[in-house]
Amino acid sequence: MKKIKFSEITPEKIYLKRRDFIKKLGLSTSSLMVGQNFLNGAKASTQNLELTEYRYISTYNNYYEFGTRKSDPVEKSQNFKTSPWSLTIDGEVKKKITLTVDEIKNSFPIEERIYRLRCVEGWSMIIPWMGFSLSKLLEKASPNSKAKFVEFTSVYDPEQMPGQRYPILQWPYKEGLRIDEAMHPLTTMVTGLYGKELPNQNGAPLRLIVPWKYGFKSAKAIVNIKFVERMPTSSWMRASPREYGFYSNVNPRVDHPRWSQASERVIGSGILSERIPTAIFNGYGEEVANLYSGMDLKKNF
Ligand code: MTE
Repeated sequence: MKKIKFSEITPEKIYLKRRDFIKKLGLSTSSLMVGQNFLNGAKASTQNLELTEYRYISTYNNYYEFGTRKSDPVEKSQNFKTSPWSLTIDGEVKKKITLTVDEIKNSFPIEERIYRLRCVEGWSMIIPWMGFSLSKLLEKASPNSKAKFVEFTSVYDPEQMPGQRYPILQWPYKEGLRIDEAMHPLTTMVTGLYGKELPNQNGAPLRLIVPWKYGFKSAKAIVNIKFVERMPTSSWMRASPREYGFYSNVNPRVDHPRWSQASERVIGSGILSERIPTAIFNGYGEEVANLYSGMDLKKNF
């Protein structure tokens, strides 16, 4: 009889079995909208959609507040305090609001969304996020007619975040979106992954996912969302404006000044680390290309 090694029974294998089971029963659960969202993901990307294992998603991270090595976030964020936590939405709004994470989690149905995360460095993972469309949350604050962009600010806490004691980037981490990008249904407020709470290293308790943009647009540990009139300057734009633009849509035809963006390494695909061609808008062109019609994507990188 073949013995199963303990290491083969990964949480995600159990998780996938459970998903299969739910699918076979034809159940549509409101908390885990597995079937529907899996199909959305499949439609959105024609490429291989095999989920990246949890152990890679939670140990190979970019989170410069905890250091610049891939292993720093998992090693240094475990005692980071994510509760109490609140998020303020202000700026050009009719009604400034502050909500706790629990209020947010209880206000919107949390669903599973499988999206490819494509890092600007040239690697990608397929991640089963848990979250809801950011638009739902933004609508609560009713932006006024001056609001044209949205600025996201991550937490500033150098006592807990050793990376913030060094000027690696301008702290706190800032990102931005045009208002129509922020309101797009694919733009997701993330509260978990693999059906679990979001690990600290992945941006707990609240992080953004903008599936058609390079990963750095997806700010972690967000404390403020501000509606603004002018295009915000993100931390990466400030650090290197020639290399990191405001839009940062995934585009295999627009290279980074120091490397090609034509292909990507799929994390966890074995020692050979398979490379696949990168898809325009990370495979979500059908949903989002219309946001950029008539725009020169080389100029607006
Ligand atoms: N958010 C903050 N606050 N700080 C960061 O350093 N890194 C970004 C993004 N969000 C980053 C951040 C980058 S470069 C990427 S690729 C993704 O987070 C990585 O997300 P992951 O570690 O969950 O895969």
